[in-house]
Amino acid sequence: MGTRATGAAGHGAHLALALLLLPGPWLAAGVPGAPPLFNVSLDAAPEQRWLPMLQHYDPDFVRAAVAEVIGDRVPQWVLGVIGEVVSKVESFLPQPFTDEIRGICNFLNLSLADGILVNLAYEASAFCTSIVAQDAQGHIYHGRNLDYNFGNILRKMTVDVQFLKNGQVAYTGTTFVGYVGLWTGQSPHKFTVSGDERDKGWWWENVIAAISLGHSPISWLIRKTLSDSENFEAAVYTLAKTPLIADVYYIVGGTLPREGVVITRNRGGPADIWPLDPLNGAWFRVETNYDHWKPVPEWDDRRTPAIKALNATGQAHISLEALFQVLSVFPVYNNYTIYTTVMSAAQPDKYVTRIRSQS
Ligand SMILES: *[C@@H]1O[C@H](CO)[C@@H](O)[C@H](O)[C@H]1NC(C)=O
Ligand SMILES: *[C@@H]1O[C@H](CO)[C@@H](O)[C@H](O)[C@H]1NC(C)=O
Ligand SMILES: *[C@@H]1O[C@H](CO)[C@@H](O)[C@H](O)[C@H]1NC(C)=O
Ligand SMILES: *[C@@H]1O[C@H](CO)[C@@H](O)[C@H](O)[C@H]1NC(C)=O
Repeated sequence: MGTRATGAAGHGAHLALALLLLPGPWLAAGVPGAPPLFNVSLDAAPEQRWLPMLQHYDPDFVRAAVAEVIGDRVPQWVLGVIGEVVSKVESFLPQPFTDEIRGICNFLNLSLADGILVNLAYEASAFCTSIVAQDAQGHIYHGRNLDYNFGNILRKMTVDVQFLKNGQVAYTGTTFVGYVGLWTGQSPHKFTVSGDERDKGWWWENVIAAISLGHSPISWLIRKTLSDSENFEAAVYTLAKTPLIADVYYIVGGTLPREGVVITRNRGGPADIWPLDPLNGAWFRVETNYDHWKPVPEWDDRRTPAIKALNATGQAHISLEALFQVLSVFPVYNNYTIYTTVMSAAQPDKYVTRIRSQS
């Protein structure tokens, strides 16, 4: 497989063979599995900026997808409540996200309540693996798998987006059509961010309450940080401190040696900060969906296989390609994996997302 065996790849490796057997240019656009790439201009009004992208999608398909995700994820009574209070909730939600959702909903003939709900509903159950690593030369690499239900739909809705300011790429991210937040993104030459769910119970009442207190949705804070933070340190500070509507793990990579960290978030602030410590052998950090200082449940151990694969790879051989291979090892890569992204802020052109096929 590829140019280098990870040793620990084992039986999961063949799943990724089709991708990994591609020679060098697997990084190029237009490769099988690459999602479409769109520009979203931040110079356009929030209501307008997603419409050029939406024109490439069948509105019936997107509406059906929204209905399926909401129907499954949001309790019926919440739909009722939100339908009534959406105008109130809406006024508490941060901009420009709400206006962006409004523009998308107008275009798709979707109710604003459904648009807001689907943008919050994804937050409820994203299972993931994120890895940040430093090679022997001090280069930082960051990769993630996004695992979620509704793979059949969401694989078709996965997009890479370049957000443009003054015609230049301000930041890049991977998301789903109609979803304005980012779980994965890169600020070029500054830092990269991914989010993994931290499930401490999901209560819609609390979410609604948190929104009215001005707390940020998780994926919106990633986008805001990519947009506003000047460097790795500023990004870590914002991601650690800003009040959120739910718990999460934020994984951040920078451009300089030791710039890699897993932030375990409570709603109100940081529960734990876990940086790379390469001088003491900790040249990578793996985060799935469990606090790193606790054992993972036996029924969902994606952490140990990822660590084994990284150990087998070795610090001298870690690279974006090798990280992609680690993220292709079963069960790090599994039936729910929708996409894999590998990125390195110091080499922004190497940002790569691949939509993963089901086994
Ligand atoms: C939205 O509804 C209007 C009026 O019913 C219709 O003309 C338009 O084609 C619809 N747009 C989409 C994208 O379905
Ligand atoms: C996106 O914008 C960049 C920068 O202006 C431009 O070079 C590129 O061709 C655009 N790509 C697409 C897919 O429109
Ligand atoms: C990975 O390597 C480290 C350092 O040699 C070792 O302590 C750890 O047990 C290894 N973990 C796994 C899962 O192989
Ligand atoms: C993944 O899906 C395939 C096909 O539906 C199934 O045969 C297999 O058992 C699944 N694997 C796991 C680990 O759930």
